[in-house]
Amino acid sequence: MTTITNIMANSHASCDELLANAENLAVDQNWQKLTAVFESFVEETEKHFRNEEEILFPKTEGILPPGGPVEVMKYEHRQMRDLIGNLREQLGKQDQAGFLGEIETLVILMQQHNMKEEQILYPMLDQLLSEDVGTVIEEMDLT
Ligand SMILES: [Fe+2]
Ligand SMILES: [Fe+2]
Repeated sequence: MTTITNIMANSHASCDELLANAENLAVDQNWQKLTAVFESFVEETEKHFRNEEEILFPKTEGILPPGGPVEVMKYEHRQMRDLIGNLREQLGKQDQAGFLGEIETLVILMQQHNMKEEQILYPMLDQLLSEDVGTVIEEMDLT
């Protein structure tokens, strides 16, 4: 059965893979390929965040208390966007040590964030939306 949990966990896995590739390319100082992989990572991550912020999170309005888990997730998206901005800056300067240090922080933050969504928020949405899950999935950009 197609669920929000399955679809979004797969999307997390794609983003994780791109970030791991970026880390390896930074270790190899392959700046040209790293730039391309980094941009794909940013694009995939932004699409994922948009699906959450514009489609999924609003479905909890009036159901979950304000200031609850969704606010925490939105705050963590901001933190991740800040880290992505720093990474872009270091990539521009070809600062290997800076890039690798920042990417390590992002990997840890993403792991913790994604685990909370996969174990708590997405299953809650699947349950909450119940027979409307299919319609909500159709609203998302899954290209
Ligand atoms: Fe998220
Ligand atoms: Fe997510």
